Amino acid sequence: MAATVVVDAEYMKEIERARRKLRALISSKNCAPIMLRLAWHDAGTYDAKTKTGGPNGSIRNELELKHDANSGLKIAVDLCEEIKAKHPKISYADLYQLAGVVAVEVTGGPTIDFVPGRKDAIVSPEEGRLPDAKQGASHLRDVFYRMGLSDQDIVALSGGHTLGKAHRERSGFDGPWTKEPLQFDNSYFLELLKGDSKGFLKLPTDKVLVEDPEFRQFVEIYAKDEEAFFRDYAASHKKLSELGFTPP
Ligand code: HEM
Repeated sequence: MAATVVVDAEYMKEIERARRKLRALISSKNCAPIMLRLAWHDAGTYDAKTKTGGPNGSIRNELELKHDANSGLKIAVDLCEEIKAKHPKISYADLYQLAGVVAVEVTGGPTIDFVPGRKDAIVSPEEGRLPDAKQGASHLRDVFYRMGLSDQDIVALSGGHTLGKAHRERSGFDGPWTKEPLQFDNSYFLELLKGDSKGFLKLPTDKVLVEDPEFRQFVEIYAKDEEAFFRDYAASHKKLSELGFTPP
């Protein structure tokens, strides 16, 4: 059984304290990209049919951290452990999602509404629920529709690749998507529309966003209008961070 999270005034205070510590930690260690990836990989296992997986902290389990898709994420789990040690009341599930929200905020992205109260799960989902970067549009849809998310969510959330880079030893891919990988902006979409020329990374699952007409319409909007991207990203990120979660 998952532990119950009682969100009272003291819990809310702890969230605000942890939020401030996360801001300092993420800025000083330049670890916004891997913190965002941690939040996404904890949440992105959600299966709406069976109501399993999702943002429940299970990614801290050794077994789940060893899933291929999570290669490298122990670094982020260990960084969060520093905050957890000082704020033990906060569930891992809340802590990882808060870290994701703060990562976007401190790199100049939109403010994402954060509602606490997620319970920690002990059990991890089976391997293979996160998207495989080598596959195409139908695979992306299978994975995100399973979570209950839409084409627009897929494109907006893929904009998370405005941050960070791939590491050959982790995923087999290499390099950043944009010129400023520590700045959250709409440059991911601008690079996507430029095609292969620039020498920045484009995963097969990034490229399908310009090849598939349903996806492409959103890429074009977000490339032109950063405010539209920020607004939609904040809404999609909130959905991702609350999959299977009903605030207490
Ligand atoms: C990194 C795949 C969606 C955020 C990566 C990497 C891969 C990948 C292969 C490189 C990992 C490494 O070598 O370190 C995918 C696929 C997606 C997807 C197939 C399907 C659409 C997302 C989403 C977000 C996200 C929805 C956040 C909202 C990140 C970030 C990094 C990253 C921030 C950089 C991590 C770092 O610099 O350490 N992704 N991703 N990704 N992903 Fe994704």
